[in-house]
Amino acid sequence: MTISRRVMLGVLAAGGVSAATYGGFRFMRGSDGEKIASGARQLQIPPLDNGVMKAGVRNYDLRLQTGISSFFDGMKTPTYGINGDYLGPTLKLTVGETVQMNVTNALGKASTLHWHGMHLPAKADGGPHQIIENGSSWHPSFEVKQKAATLWYHSHQFHKTGEQVYMGLAGLILIEDELSKKLDLPQDYGVDDIPLVLQDRRFNNDGSFDYRLSRHDQMMGMMGNNLLVNGTPNPYMIAKTNLLRLRILNGSNARSYMLKFNDGRQFQQIASDGGFLEKPLNLNSVRLSPGERAEIIVDVSDGKTIRLEDHSTGAALFNVLEIRPDEMRKKSLIIPPVLTKLDAINTDIVVKTRKFSLSMGGMMGMMGGGNDSMSINGRTMDMSRIDEVVKRGDTEIWLIDNPSNLDHPFHIHDVQFRTLDRNGRPPAPNEMGLKDTVLVPAGGQVRVLLKFEDYVDAEIPYMYHCHILEHEDAGMMGQFSVVA
Ligand code: C2O
Ligand code: CU
Ligand code: CU
Repeated sequence: MTISRRVMLGVLAAGGVSAATYGGFRFMRGSDGEKIASGARQLQIPPLDNGVMKAGVRNYDLRLQTGISSFFDGMKTPTYGINGDYLGPTLKLTVGETVQMNVTNALGKASTLHWHGMHLPAKADGGPHQIIENGSSWHPSFEVKQKAATLWYHSHQFHKTGEQVYMGLAGLILIEDELSKKLDLPQDYGVDDIPLVLQDRRFNNDGSFDYRLSRHDQMMGMMGNNLLVNGTPNPYMIAKTNLLRLRILNGSNARSYMLKFNDGRQFQQIASDGGFLEKPLNLNSVRLSPGERAEIIVDVSDGKTIRLEDHSTGAALFNVLEIRPDEMRKKSLIIPPVLTKLDAINTDIVVKTRKFSLSMGGMMGMMGGGNDSMSINGRTMDMSRIDEVVKRGDTEIWLIDNPSNLDHPFHIHDVQFRTLDRNGRPPAPNEMGLKDTVLVPAGGQVRVLLKFEDYVDAEIPYMYHCHILEHEDAGMMGQFSVVA
């Protein structure tokens, strides 16, 4: 039996919200997992954690724990959190400082905590090699050596990343530097500088998260029919200023979003994954695949209530945030016309091009119950195999090739790269800044330019992988080390 591309696309169109018939198989969802109605709830803001200075090192105490959350009235959901029931605090870091993370695991099972987007030594990365056993602690330390940006942290436990992130092991990192403090941008956390962690979730009738992976979920990635933003369904906020800065993270396991305002208004994107764009960009929509971030500025000086919505399916699928301007608003700042200067893209100094081909394996392999068919360059992730060895100081091009029928967001640890092209054409202007995760479309190719600096470790590798966490867990991940 062969499966045609047309049938495959039919599955894609189903979007994972309903059961799909696929080559004669029906992927069962059970009777659970309906969209749950909820009145508007005030957006929760994760607490800001500035750490504590001890002997010149800024310390952050983070405890991985279990909890119970009440996302909907009368419903209790067992969850994981960091210093709380669900998600973790927003860690504020400053460039030039040395930080130490004191991570204690009280989950009842092994885990890790990875600093997504950070440039740091491999042993501090928090990937699958830095396991924190239940009841023990981990104390990585590193200097903050990159630009102001919105990053995040999350579990990276081998084969369990999808489940542990779904349960709540994730949080934001805000890096500040001299430039970001000086720029006239909204920066009052939780007031006009608003973190938004987008996560779609599916619930069982008993209130628990539904993370029973069907084969359909393994293949398509886990999609939910309820959107939580910082753990809040159907959120609203009161705007106390005319300009709001939204720091948006797609913290979903598999879903991509197309974000737009309900009245189509323009906004300005000021930053991508790794920091500021050179100039604010006027946009009507921004697409975010899993792992990606965007910082946008929206102007509500007209006093109208507006909604940021997900339009990934064409029409408005989710309310991401309703913004209700307060009568007594502070007047606008003027957004600076120039934000930063990025290095010119120079491919003359490239010493090597590496190719990475993403594969979902044979469909029949998936249907036969195998979940180990996801691979890169024909190899499924193996912790004991270092796939690529790069030299410190080298600039390389990585060509990511996606012959499969699904889009894959490709993420590389340790570096912030620049996107050269997608299918031979320059990327959109809002993808021309610093990135650590890039969408590689079905049947397409992306080339990125990267440089490996500062840290070497021949033993401990960094990861590169698809950020659809079910694909990563099923083996679409590889390892590279940086050597002197
Ligand atoms: Cu966001 Cu390897 O992870
Ligand atoms: Cu990462
Ligand atoms: Cu993928």
